[in-house]
This record gives sequence, structure tokens and C-alpha cells, in this order.
Amino acid sequence: MKSSKPDRRRFIIPSFFFMILFLCVLASINEVRFDNLLRFGRCAFANTTTNTASHSISNEVVIDQVANSSSSEDIRILIGILTLPDQYHRRHFLRMIYGTQSPVGAQVDVKFVFCNLTKEDQKVLVALEIMRYDDIIILNCKENMNKGKTYTYFSSLPEMFNSSDGLYPPYHYVMKTDDDTYFRLENLVASLKPLSRDDLYYGYVIPCPSMDPFVHYMSGMGYLISWDIVEWIKDSDIPKNHLEGPEDKVFGDWIREGHRAKNRYNAKWSMYNFPEPPTRCTHELWPDTVAVHLLKNQEKWIRTLKYFNVTDNLKPSKLYHIP
Ligand SMILES: *[C@@H]1O[C@H](CO)[C@@H](O)[C@H](O)[C@H]1NC(C)=O
Ligand SMILES: *[C@@H]1O[C@H](CO)[C@@H](O)[C@H](O)[C@H]1NC(C)=O
Ligand SMILES: *[C@@H]1O[C@H](CO)[C@@H](O)[C@H](O)[C@H]1NC(C)=O
Ligand SMILES: *[C@@H]1O[C@H](CO)[C@@H](O)[C@H](O)[C@H]1NC(C)=O
Ligand SMILES: *[C@@H]1O[C@H](CO)[C@@H](O)[C@H](O)[C@H]1NC(C)=O
Repeated sequence: MKSSKPDRRRFIIPSFFFMILFLCVLASINEVRFDNLLRFGRCAFANTTTNTASHSISNEVVIDQVANSSSSEDIRILIGILTLPDQYHRRHFLRMIYGTQSPVGAQVDVKFVFCNLTKEDQKVLVALEIMRYDDIIILNCKENMNKGKTYTYFSSLPEMFNSSDGLYPPYHYVMKTDDDTYFRLENLVASLKPLSRDDLYYGYVIPCPSMDPFVHYMSGMGYLISWDIVEWIKDSDIPKNHLEGPEDKVFGDWIREGHRAKNRYNAKWSMYNFPEPPTRCTHELWPDTVAVHLLKNQEKWIRTLKYFNVTDNLKPSKLYHIP
């Protein structure tokens, strides 16, 4: 009989769907430890998603936390470091800096963000980096200062991370930062835990002496917004019609014109510029630090990393000796 065929299919497809759903539920209840089940554990149905496969820097952290089954409660944070394709050494360095931090109770994905590649060697080298680390976002734009790269970044994210796995929002918070800023992820996460996951604008308020986050805007050293504002940037005409100018200030203009961010958090003085040379924006290195900015050379990085004892947990081994 011809008619039985579509009927059966109508039955099979929903069953299959519910079976997958059931597996997902089962997987999230149980502590799934197997890599190949991880995708099911996170309920990523599509095999075509390129962005999910591995968030290399935090991959092991993610696996750990999925294994401990608290993953859907974790804060999900995307840190986008705006940089240029040719900054290979800087990216390598920052991968070490962030790859050696594993904040508890959070999934922090660090990605490097730049515009279209322009040189032949980049097409090979950046492709290799992606194959190895998968932590790069290439936006559809031409590299620019003050011509809308920040807009392209935020407004591209909803599409890029749409349906990349079962979780919504894909990230609770999205950050924009620079490659001369050092974030201490554990402190960042701790500072975010009590804050709203809606309509939030977090950072170091400009001007430097100001402590009022409802005036002006957050410094480009690193600011963070909740996912609803990311979607608003994509959908609203306000940012679209006002792209040119100093990007972080322009960002603050959008927020003001759009009456967004009723929740704001001024992270000063846990965020600050490196103490030297002293200005009104600097602060001494101190334990209560979320971010240090203007790490413009190796000496400043080393002083900062030493201060925070980042190598204290080096495991002993017969293979090396570091006095
Ligand atoms: C996705 O799965 C389909 C069918 O199972 C297969 O034909 C296709 O090649 C897969 N795509 C990728 C990128 O693995
Ligand atoms: C997950 O559990 C293992 C042991 O079961 C533990 O060693 C690890 O520290 C836990 N990870 C987190 C992020 O709590
Ligand atoms: C960026 O590259 C893509 C494909 O490689 C191209 O379609 C697009 O037009 C380019 N965008 C710009 C702004 O050059
Ligand atoms: C995700 O993308 C699909 C197809 O591109 C679209 O139909 C859907 O509305 C999008 N969903 C969200 C939440 O943006
Ligand atoms: C670094 O380690 C030293 C010596 O153990 C300690 O006195 C200091 O408080 C630590 N610094 C920070 C920022 O934790």
C-alpha cells in the first residue's frame, strides 16, 4: 500500500528525534566522560557545525566540567581578542597565558578576532593555526581602526554561534579586549557571578578618575556585555547608522542612544593600566585584580606574571629544573 510509507516515516522521524532528546537528557544526567559522546552531552545535533568542534584553549576545562556534570549551570563567556592576522607570536603567547588558567564554574572561550586575510602566507599559516587550535574568528571585513570592526565583531556572533549547540544563549557574556591586556579569569568569573545576565555592560569606566558607570563608556582594555545586548547590536539600526569614530566611545554612544544596559558594573580598580608610567589610569599590581592593561613589552608582562605567581603550580619532574 502506498499510503503506509509516509505514515511510517511520519512515525519514525519523531521517534528518532525523541530518542536523541532522550539521549541528551540521559547524557546530561549521567556523567559523560567519553569524548565522542561529548557532542551528544552538549546536544550538538549537527555534524556540520564548525565553530563548536573544539574551543581549543578551554577545551580541557570544558571537558572536565562536562564530566562533572555542572556544565549547564556554568557561566559561559566568550573573550574576543581583537588583533591582526600577522600577530602570530602574540597569539602564541596569549594561548599560553589563557591556556594555563582554568576557572571553576565557568566555560571561558578565548578567540582571536580579525578581518579578512590579505596575504598568501596568511592563508597557509592561519589555516594551520585553526587546524591546531580552532580559536580564530575571521570576520567579513577589511582591517580597520575606527571604522566598525567592533560592530562587525558583535553583530556577527549571533549567526556564528546560532544552533552551534543546544545551549541558549551560546554565551551569557561576550567580551571585547585587546592583545595587550591580561585577564585573570578566576577573578573575572568571581566578579561576574553575582551580576545580572541581562542588559549588562561591564568594564573600566572612562574617564579614569570616574567611578560612575552610567556616565560615558567602558575602556577598550576590555569590556563585557550580556548576550541580549549582542543581539540588540545585530538587530538595531542605532549601531548600523553610527560606525565611525573611536570604537569604544562609539560603543558607549550606541548604549546611551539605545537606552541599553540598565545593569552596569564598574570593575575599577580591579581593572587598571600597568603601574608604569604612572597616570590617572594606573594602579599598583595588587591581589584583587581582574585585568592589567598596557602590557606593551615583555618586561611588563614578566613583572605582571611574576607578581601573580603564575608558575607556582609547575609540576616537579626529573625532566627539567627551574630554580
Ligand atoms: C554529516 O552527515 C551526513 C549524513 O550523515 C554526511 O553525508 C555528511 O558528510 C556529514 N558532514 C560532515 C561535515 O561530516
Ligand atoms: C572533576 O572531577 C574530578 C574527579 O572526579 C576532579 O579531579 C576535577 O578537579 C573536577 N573538575 C572540576 C572542574 O571540578
Ligand atoms: C572577505 O572575504 C570574503 C570571502 O573570502 C568575501 O566574500 C568578502 O567580500 C570579503 N569582505 C571584504 C570586506 O573584503
Ligand atoms: C539560526 O539560523 C537559522 C537559519 O540560518 C534561522 O532560521 C534561525 O532563525 C536562527 N536562529 C536564531 C536564534 O538566530
Ligand atoms: C605570591 O607568592 C608569594 C610567596 O608565596 C606570596 O607572598 C604572595 O602573596 C603571592 N602573590 C599573590 C598575588 O598571590
